Amino acid sequence: MKVLIVGGGGREHAIAMCVKKSPKVDKLYCAPGNAGIAKIAECVPIKVMEFEKMADFAQEQQIDLTIIGPDDPLAGGIVDVFEKRDLRVFGPRGNAAILEGSKAFSKDLMKKYGIPTAAYENFDDPEEALKYLESASYPIVLKADGLALGKGVLICQDKAEAVEGVRSIMQDKKFGSAGNRMVIEEFMTGREVSVLSFVDGNTIKIMSSAQDHKRAGDGDTGLNTGGMGTFSPSPFYTPEVDAYCREHIFQKTVDAMKAEGREFKGIIFFGLMLTKDGPKVLEYNARFGDPEAQVVLPRLKGDIIDIVEACIDGTLADTPVEFEDNAAVCVVLASDGYPVSYEKGFEITGLEAFEGKDDYFCFHAGTAFDGDKIVTAGGRVLGVTAKGDTLTGARAKAYEATEWVKFDNKYMRHDIGKAIDEA
Ligand code: AMP
Ligand code: GLY
Repeated sequence: MKVLIVGGGGREHAIAMCVKKSPKVDKLYCAPGNAGIAKIAECVPIKVMEFEKMADFAQEQQIDLTIIGPDDPLAGGIVDVFEKRDLRVFGPRGNAAILEGSKAFSKDLMKKYGIPTAAYENFDDPEEALKYLESASYPIVLKADGLALGKGVLICQDKAEAVEGVRSIMQDKKFGSAGNRMVIEEFMTGREVSVLSFVDGNTIKIMSSAQDHKRAGDGDTGLNTGGMGTFSPSPFYTPEVDAYCREHIFQKTVDAMKAEGREFKGIIFFGLMLTKDGPKVLEYNARFGDPEAQVVLPRLKGDIIDIVEACIDGTLADTPVEFEDNAAVCVVLASDGYPVSYEKGFEITGLEAFEGKDDYFCFHAGTAFDGDKIVTAGGRVLGVTAKGDTLTGARAKAYEATEWVKFDNKYMRHDIGKAIDEA
């Protein structure tokens, strides 16, 4: 069969690697892809928000299955455009991708269906939000309602910071129209865990857990980024936590979406905080995490195409979703200065060191060709992943492999997976 993957980051490289392993797939395309994905797929220069062009391509090439990677096209309704043309596609429709696309929606959903999350209020009017801050307790969390590249969340220590935050989100529109509404919610403390899942509208099967490192600097300092590294599984996601989440969060979310007439097919990513009162939902995403996919997918057993097709067909209950009994760590190699400003266009060398090594993966995020050289082309450049029998072993291997690759302005965190030692 012919498969098209939409997107061009490290997540899509990890998806592509998994799809490529399927004996059912004889031709793989990726739009737009990147210099690393180009090794295993034919890259097509169509941007992820060019829905009609993307669907034209799928029709012309008689693509059998399209897998959507990023949040923006999902929230924008790319799946609806494909379905209207009878093209087979994996991901939630626009009316279900709202689970990620609107934080106000997802908070109201959780409240209505009794899914544990932080206490909150939604606001359309900045004056109302400012009034609310008068009697709130601090720290407090402000969230732009819409998609904001993972940056629309402000944790404010006191009222002065929060007032400034409301102004920047709702009045100065720091995150654009994402800030037309906002959520103000209770600040929670605890460990964060990411749990991704496959969903077919009724059945949910969860993947192995993971933990991201969102801040730019060692020791969780500096600005929020898209993610500087991950490990999987999380030792903090214990069988007790799992049992609680199965009872109170996972199936309830799928059932709630169905009850709202927003049947969800695709990936639900649960961002959880393990508070002293039990696990609570921080956020939902409607797609694979990046760089969570880079540590979860290399550990997936079996054929991802079978699972994806089962989600589309509603037969996930009969389809196994299993993971290897090992661990993986991903260290992101970024351009120094990310997430603010950074130079691009530096040659990357040493990539060939990954060839022929089953336990090591170099997922490309921001890379491009410059003639026959591969150069840096983004803030997050590569996701260096290694698998090992244990988390500690995988981490040592991943850090060893970060040394194989060289480019000017290479930057990484040195403490990815440090929490493993505390488990
Ligand atoms: P989100 O995009 O909603 O996951 O938020 C980004 C990050 O902000 C999360 O990964 C948390 O570290 C932090 N965060 C979000 N909501 C809260 C909250 N209610 N309490 C404490 N931290 C939060
Ligand atoms: N790594 C977090 C995300 O993909 O949203």
